[in-house]
Amino acid sequence: MKKLVVLTGAGISAESGISTFRDAGGLWEQHRIEDVATPEAWARNPELVLRFYNQRRKQLQEVQPNPGHRALVELEKQFEVHIITQNVDDLHERAGSSRVLHLHGELLKVRSERYEDLVYEWPGDLQLGERCARGFQLRPHIVWFGEAVPMLLPAAELAAEADLFLIVGTSLQVYPAAGLMSYARRNIPMFYVDPNPQLNWELRQMPQLRVVAEPAGTGLPKLAAEWLQQKPEG
Ligand code: APR
Repeated sequence: MKKLVVLTGAGISAESGISTFRDAGGLWEQHRIEDVATPEAWARNPELVLRFYNQRRKQLQEVQPNPGHRALVELEKQFEVHIITQNVDDLHERAGSSRVLHLHGELLKVRSERYEDLVYEWPGDLQLGERCARGFQLRPHIVWFGEAVPMLLPAAELAAEADLFLIVGTSLQVYPAAGLMSYARRNIPMFYVDPNPQLNWELRQMPQLRVVAEPAGTGLPKLAAEWLQQKPEG
């Protein structure tokens, strides 16, 4: 089976009702990154940071996967699909995708402030004073701006093994995620589904790129139907 590596961003969850970050009315228009999504913000005002993520966790319980997520599940019939998502929601998993790597953490998990490996499932609110098994404050299991991206290496390895690469719903502004496609082998088929595609430097080096300038909820099912009609090779 051919290996299809998919890099997703906030746009794939937009039609489920989760705000993106940088579109008009997006999350970073309503909140300053420096106030809620950096280690400094956590040190300065952890209550504010927790409130922000508690709200988002609550909102996540109220939304459902959309046809874009489901199209990626369909593609498993004919491809070995590996999703690398920048999203912290669990909508790929709830839709039924089998292989999902979260590059920027997971909203429904928390971890020890001190011991990165002490990670817990956490469906509800997190409060100050809630501690890990070794007695340290728990924090959202989110990769904040300025922090290392521990899953980068496995993500880059996946990209290097891709036979096809599909990018969905991301403004490709946040590195290293936005550069992952450059780990792919030269000239493999490359696709980008986004109603407002932003070709970054890496994509501009790829003449084989096919852009589908549509929302994921319609663009992905169409692309999946096209690919699933083709006879599998090899
Ligand atoms: N379908 C597909 N794409 C869409 C849709 C849709 N229905 N609606 C909007 N988009 C696209 C926008 O055109 C934009 O290109 O989704 C993209 C959203 O971009 P951002 O808000 O910048 O989100 P993302 O690229 O995922 O952000 C990357 O930045 O703040 C950090 O850690 C956060 O993981 C996040 C990272």
